[in-house]
Amino acid sequence: MVYEATVSAPVNIACIKYWGKRDTKLIIPTNSSLSITLSQDHLRSTTTCRADPRFERGDRLWLNGKEEVIKENGRTWVCIEELRRWRRAMEEKDKKLPELSEMPLRIASYNNFPTAAGLASSASGLAALVSSLSTLFSLPQTPSQLSLIARQGSGSACRSLFGGFVAWREGLASDGSDSMAQQVAPETHWPEMQALICVVSDQKKATSSTAGMQATVETSALFRQRLQVVPSRMDAIESAIKQKDFESFAKITMADSNTFHACCLDTTPPIFYMNDVSRSIIQLIEQLNKANGKPLAAYTFDAGPNAVIYTLDKYMPVVIKAVQRFFPPAQDLEDRLNVMPAVEKAGF
Ligand code: PMV
Repeated sequence: MVYEATVSAPVNIACIKYWGKRDTKLIIPTNSSLSITLSQDHLRSTTTCRADPRFERGDRLWLNGKEEVIKENGRTWVCIEELRRWRRAMEEKDKKLPELSEMPLRIASYNNFPTAAGLASSASGLAALVSSLSTLFSLPQTPSQLSLIARQGSGSACRSLFGGFVAWREGLASDGSDSMAQQVAPETHWPEMQALICVVSDQKKATSSTAGMQATVETSALFRQRLQVVPSRMDAIESAIKQKDFESFAKITMADSNTFHACCLDTTPPIFYMNDVSRSIIQLIEQLNKANGKPLAAYTFDAGPNAVIYTLDKYMPVVIKAVQRFFPPAQDLEDRLNVMPAVEKAGF
């Protein structure tokens, strides 16, 4: 008998960034963070897990068709083993259940967008892995409980287990048992909110987020100051979301992106995730907001040069027009990316 489950999970883009670990093994963050999960089909990971007693021993994983080694005690391994432990506990209680926890696994995952190019592929990838394996194992755990596992695969992945507006609470416990994701509001709460993804580059980033955040924690003085302001920003953005106050939402989102990149610059040696195009996008949005008298759009950048612009549906045509006017898509970009035009109205 073959047991199989397929689940897809979307990317989430943080408005209050996670950057820094208190515990590098358990992935407990130095600060809480908040993101929006993109709900359309453009940026997703789809993962199939299969368990079969006839497979040769040992789990195997393919990412976009290429086999990846599952390193013992590595992050993917930890996620698989934790979920197996939960399944084993179920099987011990109910002897009639098939012993899926004893079967070797074959896992195949696909991203429909460039991997590791600052488009949060690890978030959707690990969330899809945890969701599909927990579906295969019929685990009763809630998304918040599953987020404890996804977090250990890739921090930001814990937020992709929910749709809409999602907070990852850093938690107080030293074992990470309360460092989990929680939905602040469902996507239906503020359907006017949309995201425009501007692919500045689809190249793999030079400094991984793991290496980058560790270097920032160890060397940046500015980083310690950022930790002081994040709690009030979390409170303020949550109330902005609840009240659908776009102006406050936009100001906080842009401020936090800028503080995060300032901390990267304050790292020794400095980390440059944004490039000249990224900075020009910032100037363009600042100009648009100034001309409008109040923010109509908010930029945010993760560990890469690509921009995500949050705006309301009524402003989206203006924003797209401005972006296309100043950043005409490269001729061959559509071919190179295969699936995405340069400017993609992702929405959510
Ligand atoms: O989950 P990681 O280890 O890839 O880190 C992601 C960090 C940022 O994307 C820069 C910020 C965030 O909160 O998503």
